[in-house]
Amino acid sequence: MIATPLIARQERFAVVASTNDVVRAWLDEGAPEVCLAVADEQSAGRGREGRRWMAPAGRALLLSLGFRPTWLEPDRAWRLAAVVSLAMAGAAEEVAGLPSGTIRLKWPNDLVVERDGTARKVAGVLGETVGLGTADPRVVVGIGVNVDWPAAEFPEGLADAMTSLREAAGETPIDRERVLTAFVARLERGIESLRTGSFDAAAWQARQLTNGRRVRLVGHDESTEIVRAIGIDPSSGALIVAGDDGSATERRVLTGEILHLRLDEEV
Ligand code: BTN
Repeated sequence: MIATPLIARQERFAVVASTNDVVRAWLDEGAPEVCLAVADEQSAGRGREGRRWMAPAGRALLLSLGFRPTWLEPDRAWRLAAVVSLAMAGAAEEVAGLPSGTIRLKWPNDLVVERDGTARKVAGVLGETVGLGTADPRVVVGIGVNVDWPAAEFPEGLADAMTSLREAAGETPIDRERVLTAFVARLERGIESLRTGSFDAAAWQARQLTNGRRVRLVGHDESTEIVRAIGIDPSSGALIVAGDDGSATERRVLTGEILHLRLDEEV
């Protein structure tokens, strides 16, 4: 258990279907923010776009946080996931002994480590909302981090696109509890700031993998478009892009508009 005034309710589980569902149920029952559910294993972990999220028992940090952000404009709710991502990136680097900035944010919601020109996913974030814009908004932010997962045990077919803190640290065992403790300490500062209207847009921007790079946007209809990513809009959380020739006008792409994004070099 983590002793911090930030967390109003917390529980650890050996196995649950999905920590996002646990926290969502707590919020539905009236639990105050911030709630935290942590599991060693999930039997029905899920990612964006209905994808499965799998990790062997005890190898990943699987957690969800529940918020009642009556104090946040609905169109700023994305900042909760951003604060969680930033807190985890910093905590993971600290515990794994990685240089600051090793873990990048790949818009919209991945944490990656780049190696040999390939962005390897080390964590994914799933934000789910109910009642945004009403008097009873509820937001669940789940994050799954590949912490102590040896590269030799990565699933076939995913091994080239994923990594773990253990692998990034040179196959050094990494303690999930230390990552959790460091994460909660950073989260506390980030959420306190957010509650007073302050968001570290510079840190959010600086960690983005895609700044200035050619990216391929894949739409829900599988259509693709190559653009140049300029940065992130700190108001909407949208990706700011321009035409690949650099001449076209900038425009903003919202998370819900695309299925996924790839660095063009990866394609
Ligand atoms: C993604 O990359 O698509 C997001 C993955 C989010 C996975 C985490 S693990 C903890 C929480 N519970 C879930 O079922 N999903 C999130």
